[in-house]
Amino acid sequence: MPTIARPKISLGPYPTKIHKEELIELLDLWEFAPGIKEQIKALVEQEAEALRGPHLFRYYNPRPSKVAAAEQAFARFLGVKHALGVNSCTSALIAALRALGIGMGDEVIVPAYTFFASAAVIGACNAIPVIADVDDTLTLDPADVERKITPRTRAIIVVHMRGKPAQMDELVALAARHKVTIIEDVAQAAGASYKGRRLGSIGTLGCFSFDYYKILNSGEGGFVVTDDEWLYTRAQSWHDCAACWRPDRFASEARKGELFCGENYRLSELQGAVALAQIRKAPKYLEGYRAAFRRITDRLRLPASVTPQRVADPAGDACTNLIFFMRDVDATKCALAGMLAAGVPAGAIYDHNVKDWHIYTYWEHILEKKFVARDGLPWTGVPAAELPRYSPTMCPQCTDYLSRAIMIDIHWQYSKDDCAAIAGTINKVLARL
Ligand SMILES: Cc1ncc(COP(=O)(O)O)c(C=O)c1O
Repeated sequence: MPTIARPKISLGPYPTKIHKEELIELLDLWEFAPGIKEQIKALVEQEAEALRGPHLFRYYNPRPSKVAAAEQAFARFLGVKHALGVNSCTSALIAALRALGIGMGDEVIVPAYTFFASAAVIGACNAIPVIADVDDTLTLDPADVERKITPRTRAIIVVHMRGKPAQMDELVALAARHKVTIIEDVAQAAGASYKGRRLGSIGTLGCFSFDYYKILNSGEGGFVVTDDEWLYTRAQSWHDCAACWRPDRFASEARKGELFCGENYRLSELQGAVALAQIRKAPKYLEGYRAAFRRITDRLRLPASVTPQRVADPAGDACTNLIFFMRDVDATKCALAGMLAAGVPAGAIYDHNVKDWHIYTYWEHILEKKFVARDGLPWTGVPAAELPRYSPTMCPQCTDYLSRAIMIDIHWQYSKDDCAAIAGTINKVLARL
């Protein structure tokens, strides 16, 4: 047979469609001193012909992947074996639940005070959310968790709300007693710790958010972390349409449970690059938050009628905010009005006039058992009589503490003067009540 001449194909090793135009668009996202952006753009324009664009897909990447580098850096930072980059904490939580094999008919406990995503993911996996009360730490009350455990309970989503560690000793002990798994939702507390261990490394799986409002952010993004190789494999599989990036992507399963139908939660290289830089800066942010928090609390003189939030391990607090409880709702309103009028960055947590998806009373999706498809799931997964009874009054500690709570936002860049001004003003307002 005559040999066929190889065709000459001019594409280089990086057949990317992304070149200078995209880089210039990216530059517009940053603010520069006058003239600087124009200089960079001019340099990029000169590079036009030679410039080889990025490969923004983490896999099959001819260059070292930024997502993979961020995963390694985050795993090192937390002291865990595996970190998997995903596109949000919502995705991270679903991948964690799916890795554990949680689905129809299973119950998962979630706190009454958390962003709704922590509860929504349970229903999204066709499992039943069981809402447990919080106590004066504003994190799960271990006693109520124990009361809510049933033979169907598979996991507890422990949320480290507002940067403060939950009561891990008690929760880990009761989870072990009842043979249920702990998933830590560390969306709001990246870098915080409990008794010397970084949050996310204590439960079986930890889930993080890198959305815009979090301690570390890449616009959108998240991580699932675990020491468990098998759960990591299954979470990884779920996050990429179950493509399962084992050594051989297309191999048949070596162990039952390795292959299944998943979804796509992949993190792009753009977000991976930003996340990597953010992870490297985590110590700086934490130091900033904690220094500002200390400067304010050192000067605070709370009257006897005002109680600071109890923190399960104050040394591990990320210190992104300061919360205290007033005697009653009227005193809360009065103190808040005084602080806001004086320019203190204070806010109510439970303002009955404002819907807020951080409080279970507003989770009508769950309280009214809403569903997405004709199958009625997740509510048809167990006999109707055995479903939890949901009501807006079912977690009275949560509504009581939150109604009397005042939260002061802490900024990691507050100066000494800022802190002195905030503490001094709070002292004056509280003294006048
Ligand atoms: C406690 C908690 N869990 C989960 C999430 C969901 O995070 P994401 O926006 O990355 O999906 C949030 C986001 O606000 C959160 O605060």
